[in-house]
Amino acid sequence: MCGIIGYVGTRDVVPVLIGGLKKLEYRGYDSAGIAVVNGEGVEVVRAEGKLSNLESKLGEMELEGTFGMGHTRWATHGKPNENNAHPHRDCTGRVVVIHNGIIENFLPLKQKLQAAGHQFKTETDTEVVAHLIEETMKSGARFVDAVRSALKQIEGHYALVIINGKDPGTIIAAKHGPPLVIGIGENENLVASDVAPLLAYTRNIIYLEDGEYAVVDQKRVQLFDEHDNAVRREPKKILWDAVMAEKEGYRHYMLKEIHEQPRAVRDTFTGRMFEESGDIYFNELELTPAQWSKFRRVHIVACGTSWHAALVGKFLLEEAARIPIEVDYGSEYRYRNPIVDEETLVIGVTQSGETADTIAGMQEAKAKGAQLIAICNVIGSAATRMSQGVIYTNAGPEIGVASTKAFTTQLTAFYLLSLYVRQLRGEPVDDRRYAMHEMRVIPHKIEHLLKTQEKHIERLAHKYSTAQDFLFLGRGVNYPIALEGALKLKEISYIHAEGYPAGEMKHGPIALIDENLPIVAIATHTPVYDKVVSNLQEAKARDGKLIVICDEGDQAIRNLADDVIEIPWTVEPLQPILSVVPTQLLAYYIALRRGADIDQPRNLAKSVTVE
Ligand code: F6R
Repeated sequence: MCGIIGYVGTRDVVPVLIGGLKKLEYRGYDSAGIAVVNGEGVEVVRAEGKLSNLESKLGEMELEGTFGMGHTRWATHGKPNENNAHPHRDCTGRVVVIHNGIIENFLPLKQKLQAAGHQFKTETDTEVVAHLIEETMKSGARFVDAVRSALKQIEGHYALVIINGKDPGTIIAAKHGPPLVIGIGENENLVASDVAPLLAYTRNIIYLEDGEYAVVDQKRVQLFDEHDNAVRREPKKILWDAVMAEKEGYRHYMLKEIHEQPRAVRDTFTGRMFEESGDIYFNELELTPAQWSKFRRVHIVACGTSWHAALVGKFLLEEAARIPIEVDYGSEYRYRNPIVDEETLVIGVTQSGETADTIAGMQEAKAKGAQLIAICNVIGSAATRMSQGVIYTNAGPEIGVASTKAFTTQLTAFYLLSLYVRQLRGEPVDDRRYAMHEMRVIPHKIEHLLKTQEKHIERLAHKYSTAQDFLFLGRGVNYPIALEGALKLKEISYIHAEGYPAGEMKHGPIALIDENLPIVAIATHTPVYDKVVSNLQEAKARDGKLIVICDEGDQAIRNLADDVIEIPWTVEPLQPILSVVPTQLLAYYIALRRGADIDQPRNLAKSVTVE
């Protein structure tokens, strides 16, 4: 996701900003820009694409200053082009803003500001912040007070860094969601989205908490809470090396990405669901009720983990759409001559947007006249270029080969899509409001789950790490999670694992069960809960070792299982987003125990661009 760096001090600021942005490249981006203050003027230089494009532009200019900020953008609102690249300015060009996150209420704010005469130059949600500050300063407010007022008006998730040409030497940094850190140097201070770009200058770091903002100049850092009360916090000494800094102190990218899921899921629904009106809005996918009603069937095409997300998607969409939905592996779909026409909606699901088999399946469908949409994490990738509509999963770059946060954001996208279909079909708005509320609290539930279960799962991983085979069971919406749990375990720990629908166990896999076989089962409360419990009793009767993922406080499961992993309750369609997290952690800690190369498992590639 977007990278942020700000500097005030005595050094030549351009190399500091470019060097900092290079350290943030691992986060992924599609454009970049810097702002440098010189006198009262602020010079802004931006470029689409890689940092080298920005550097070439800067090479042709003489930009001097010791105060400025830089940004790498991962587009959410508006295309990834130079005009939408950060920094963004107000009408005077002096109030300059960079931002990571989403301003949810930017549209009504923008309309109000436009009515007051503000000229907007970009499609971004960010620009509204610069104009809001300008508007308050017009009536004589100080820069800091105008920022305070703006922060009280905006809603959403943001890490914001703001400067004002008329107030040279002051950086204001505000956090509500995405991370922001402050580096305390000698006669210089920095702000950034993580510590990686700061380590060249200082190891004394202050982490901003949600709702806080900092007023930073060359000599001082003042912190405030959301009620504008001063906050005292001593800097922490960070001893990480550069690689550890990129992993934010986690041992592996996979573990970091598992922990990023609350943020990733939140970024995927933010700005797309509006509880008050009950509306779903996708800025890159517009369907009218008339267009929707023309579809007679839906095909979903994907590979690997994305295919598991597609199976959950079928469950959610079929319930919402009441038309037949088929899910195919890309590698099968392209050769099986599927029945596709203009009345078919085809959804390609792909994290990378470059998986050869998925792309080929999508091409096949498009050639036959289908309407094509993509659920994808990478802007500008092949899948997005060929599709008529896209739902971007805002997971941010996934570096660990084993997919984790991309999967839970794909599930989020399918959940929103199912609500969108209900909206297109004219279903009652109240049901959607409740469904949106349940979605909104999911990130907190993932956080709670990680906090309460991770250590316990690590212990279980030690207990079961020598097993030779695992069986994963689930039913209904949790059946794809059994498949995903098995895939995750085999790809990073190299233990053989199979995922099965729990009801299908008696038709074959039951022969495998003895006291050496750990069985990971998902038994949360759904309409088939009792059936799952019966299946588990059958496994228990054959001495299988039951590790059961269940709702918190489920005593019946506790009495039956050898070990339980408790997850917070949620509505059935959202359960997979929670129930998959313990399976990711179990695979991770078993692989760690067995000394496997977790981020680069043998024989696997992050993006499989060959057939
Ligand atoms: C498993 C994994 C792979 C990918 C698959 C599809 O952890 O990462 O199974 O899910 O190769 O990749 P995308 O989603 O990029 O099309």
